[in-house]
Amino acid sequence: EKGDFEHYMLKEIYEQPKAIEDSFRGRMNASGGWIKMGGITEYSARIANAERFVITACGTSWHSGLLGEYIIEDLARVPVEVEYASEFRYRNPIVRESDFVIAISQSGETADTLAAIELAKERQALVYGICNVIGSSIARATHAGSYTHAGPEIGVASTKAFSTQVSILILIALQIAQSKGAIPQSKLRQILYELESVPNKIREVLKLDDQIREIAAVYKDAKNFLYLGRGYNYPVAMEGALKLKEISYIHAEGYPAAEMKHGPIALIDEEMPVVFLATNVSAYEKIVSNIQEVKARKGKVIAVVNEGDTQIKAMADHCIEVPQVDEVISPLVTIVPLQLLAYHIAIMRGCNVDQPRNLAKSVTVE
Ligand code: M6R
Repeated sequence: EKGDFEHYMLKEIYEQPKAIEDSFRGRMNASGGWIKMGGITEYSARIANAERFVITACGTSWHSGLLGEYIIEDLARVPVEVEYASEFRYRNPIVRESDFVIAISQSGETADTLAAIELAKERQALVYGICNVIGSSIARATHAGSYTHAGPEIGVASTKAFSTQVSILILIALQIAQSKGAIPQSKLRQILYELESVPNKIREVLKLDDQIREIAAVYKDAKNFLYLGRGYNYPVAMEGALKLKEISYIHAEGYPAAEMKHGPIALIDEEMPVVFLATNVSAYEKIVSNIQEVKARKGKVIAVVNEGDTQIKAMADHCIEVPQVDEVISPLVTIVPLQLLAYHIAIMRGCNVDQPRNLAKSVTVE
């Protein structure tokens, strides 16, 4: 079943271009300029009138949810809150009939996410599911939803589920933006065209596997890792850190790059690898100065940059060059080298990447 791959995780990383294509199939067309997510269309009036969106999930799915906040607020101009399901269910949150709640779960069986859904339903909110497993408990418990169509994900570390969740969130945001008139049709088309070509861009990134393996060999014995990104790359930084910690057992933290000087900068010395997500066009100079701050303290910098970058290349210890895409879409591209980096480091440390210690594929107990 693993085919040519030694591990499910690697296979699933490589399946991402196809998984994303499958998640788009029949749901959008760039030249036609349309998006059609059935569940969103079905509840379009209620969604259009929603006062706010609440996204709830756990783990990697929570990271997609955080990206969902950035994407939906940016494109559709609706206020969004993102909640860990385990906090949401117990903290007596304000949930109203006018809320649109999106629950994200690969397995569709996560106990805390399911409980958060039940709470939202009791308070009369409209609840939408983004699940991978067809017919799962969460898919059945929600009023409507979209399947990610990533195919079975066996590796405990979530990879293709994450990228397809993000793809679905982009489509949902675009459809709502379009129906609200919040986005010019030309911009919408541009993003749709970029989405259609993103699977091939990811195929380009996968060709960097050997280079990433070489970087992994340099840092496999590190005790700590810091992942930094701004804007759309901040949730990616957190997701990259989660991948590393769960499969390699190296302590890693993802942070918004500018928060570094509020604490984590104290950790930086010549032993500390810092992974920078530096593909942002809008905040480029700010990231350059964050990198300078790390280099001034002798930290080791691994930077994910856009192809053709020169400024960061001159400063970083290692640069991974990825194709440039619209910032809204960029997480689909920038997460891939981080998945591969975590995978190779874990393999070099002799870890069981598909079944890391203490972890289960779906957390059906709280
Ligand atoms: O099945 P779910 O998406 O609800 O699972 C949520 C988390 O348990 C899951 O994403 C977990 O964090 C992964 N092991 C991360 O790789």
